Amino acid sequence: MQSIVVRGGRKLSGEVIIDGAKNSALPLIAATLLAEKGCSRLDNVPDLRDINTIVRLLEGMGAVVSRQGGSLEITTSAVENCQAPYELVKTMRASILVLGPLMARFGEARVSLPGGCAIGARPVNLHIKGLEMMGARISVEHGYIIGQAERLQGADISFDVTTVTGTENLMMAAVLADGVTILRNAAREPEIVDLAAFLRKMGAQIEGDGTHTITITGVEKLLAADYQVMPDRIEAGTFMVAAGISDGDVVIKNAPLAAMAAVVTKLQEIGLLIEPLSPEEDDDELYKENKLLAGVAVRVRRGLDGLKALDVRTMPYPGFPTDMQSQAMVLLTLAEGTSVISETIFENRFMHVFELQRMGADIEVEGRTAIVRGVVALSGAPVMASDLRASAGLVLAGLAAEGETVMSRVYHLDRGYAGFEKKLKALGADVKRVRD
Ligand code: EPU
Repeated sequence: MQSIVVRGGRKLSGEVIIDGAKNSALPLIAATLLAEKGCSRLDNVPDLRDINTIVRLLEGMGAVVSRQGGSLEITTSAVENCQAPYELVKTMRASILVLGPLMARFGEARVSLPGGCAIGARPVNLHIKGLEMMGARISVEHGYIIGQAERLQGADISFDVTTVTGTENLMMAAVLADGVTILRNAAREPEIVDLAAFLRKMGAQIEGDGTHTITITGVEKLLAADYQVMPDRIEAGTFMVAAGISDGDVVIKNAPLAAMAAVVTKLQEIGLLIEPLSPEEDDDELYKENKLLAGVAVRVRRGLDGLKALDVRTMPYPGFPTDMQSQAMVLLTLAEGTSVISETIFENRFMHVFELQRMGADIEVEGRTAIVRGVVALSGAPVMASDLRASAGLVLAGLAAEGETVMSRVYHLDRGYAGFEKKLKALGADVKRVRD
């Protein structure tokens, strides 16, 4: 077992480079299953446990995958086994993303039903219902979703609840379907725009991504394509909080600022100065093509007035992301006044609260609302990570706490942050990973 040990009190300074987005790379890798011919190359793929999991999933199906640094080359022409086994799916719910592409290209799939999850029930009923509306016959047997179809048919599908991976799965199913599919009340996350851009490079016809209504006209076949994964807006937001909570001065490079408006506005209102440096400095062709998906450099530090309490409500994009809730909460534990944080996406995403209380935070939870009364200081303590974003929040708390914080269950962090403690260390944090 590994732990992260943080000694608080260091002001972070210097530069950090944001990696590719986990929640973009996962659907992009799944989408390579749609290519009948050729080798797709994905650049800027983060080095994460979840990425290894989806790569193993594809390899198990017969895909050939090679990795060089941040680039993956994936050939799926020889895929013949349309199964996603429980052993892999249980470690990562996003494995469900192979369901849409498998049904679209092969008309069959056997994908383990993801089980329970620490942050909420997280059913996949809308993924299944959408595929059924496209003509698939779906049953659940022995814990597996078994899907069959001749060729999927275009359909007019309206989501009851906005779902990110549900939208992605049905988009990937629809690109090879017969006729037009309309996805209504679709999720608008930037990662969906990133996936649509890749699918278009493969030959798909998609309009309206980034809005609530996505229209997909099915084509006969898709071919492999090259693409660069957008930068991770949650990693960038996490480092913004790291700069602010440590009272540091950090330049965050490759931050997808245009995709982070809600986070940037909230952090500014709490009291951080967030100044975009000229995009010309590290821009690329992508910035000119689509600002939303491009990274820029941004300087982050605390303003002269200190940190002020503020209410935060998590919402689907373009609202404040649930994946930034724990990090924002940690910052607000040290702000002057009382903040109210409402979690509207997942029913059980406050587990970090009980660990933060052990570090001296004054937080009360009532259902899906947390009331955070600012304290003058946090004190280091042994804490336990409960999920990916909670673990990032606890490390951030450790940066500002007096004394030593030891966070166990580091595997949660490794699912979604590449070299988190190395990047913090390079900014001057006193942080290390230890093996028990
Ligand atoms: N929902 C249903 N039925 C469905 C699908 C979803 O009721 O068929 C509900 C969920 O239970 C939840 C809400 O809809 O209450 C929204 O869930 P969504 O489906 O949007 O979540 P997701 O697609 O499973 C993605 C990210 C999560 C992120 C959420 C919300 C990926 C791989 N995962 O999950 O990321 O929190 O969207 O933005 O994109 C993380 O990176 O730490 C993470 C958990």
